[in-house]
Amino acid sequence: MSDEPLVLGIETSCDETGVGIVRGRTLLADAVASSVEEHARFGGVVPEVASRAHLEAMVPTVQRACETAGISMHDVDAVAVTNGPGLAGALLVGVAAAKALAVGLGKPMYGVNHLASHVAVDQLEHGPLPEPCVALLVSGGHSSLLRVADVTGHDDGVSSLGATIDDAAGEAFDKVARLLGLPFPGGPHVDREARSGSSVAIDFPRGLTSQRDLERHRFDFSFSGLKTAVARWVEARERAGEPVPVADVAASFQEAVCDVLTRKAVAAALDEGIEDILVGGGVAANSRLRALAGERAAARGIRVRVPRPGLCTDNGAMVAALGAEMVARGRQPSALDLPADSSLPVTSVLA
Ligand code: KG4
Ligand code: ZN
Repeated sequence: MSDEPLVLGIETSCDETGVGIVRGRTLLADAVASSVEEHARFGGVVPEVASRAHLEAMVPTVQRACETAGISMHDVDAVAVTNGPGLAGALLVGVAAAKALAVGLGKPMYGVNHLASHVAVDQLEHGPLPEPCVALLVSGGHSSLLRVADVTGHDDGVSSLGATIDDAAGEAFDKVARLLGLPFPGGPHVDREARSGSSVAIDFPRGLTSQRDLERHRFDFSFSGLKTAVARWVEARERAGEPVPVADVAASFQEAVCDVLTRKAVAAALDEGIEDILVGGGVAANSRLRALAGERAAARGIRVRVPRPGLCTDNGAMVAALGAEMVARGRQPSALDLPADSSLPVTSVLA
């Protein structure tokens, strides 16, 4: 038997009910039930629908994870749960489930930050995290640049270098996909269309990259102007009765997003004197982002780690991975009156 901690992690911050099981840095199970199809006709996640779906999926997903890992619930050494940030009602379901498990099993519980979990998950695939590193987290709900000196948050271990001031990167992908008549969630469809288009066909704006903006928003992002520019461009074509070149619009839009994300991530690493960048979140599945991040970082002597796409999107394994790190580094478990906090700051890694 290994003496590494066996940790069950629960994630319910958005529309994925994730239950993951890890032993130390080894992934044993990653069960995910998504309600994404129930939201598709609304073109975005509907909080009440997500909460109800979590409630229905929780017990079967816990059971499926235990079966896959070949363990009994009684074997776990600790339970970890995302307690923020995210949708309040959705988070509550996960936090309540974690409390019930912790009390029922008589095991410690760790309420952990969703964003730090997106960072910690990489060690299930690529081994111990390089600390410090710069983390670029991009998904439907967040776009952040973090400095991670200690992923458990100890001693101000996680700090924010920048974030989006309006839409998240994935949200921009989803909105542009909708304009182009592509299904929700749009990121993977834009990615696929872009492969047959030209990334230089249309010169879309790069938000917060002008000299003036850089003074105040060096490592912040803005995607709402880009989304509007794409909408105007598409509308003008339609008004003129001309066909919309979907692949070119997708490729040029995708290039604008990936250009800004990678430029700022590399600049942040150079600024901080850090040699490792970690990319995570659903948008990290984007093929152009992965390629451009690798190229630009390598040109400056910086290493890039990106987990495989299945670990980039929301899942329970990432929460279990961070929970196992909490146990391994001897952090104090959370109190059983742990609240869910929809706007939990990124610096608050462990409740
Ligand atoms: O991390 P995630 O599963 O959930 C959130 O926390 O939001 O990320 C989902 C987001 C969606 O906006 C989706 O369109 C985007 O990630 N996404 C992509 C790709 N795959 C997923 N965006 C661009 N390219 C992709 N290949
Ligand atoms: Zn996420």
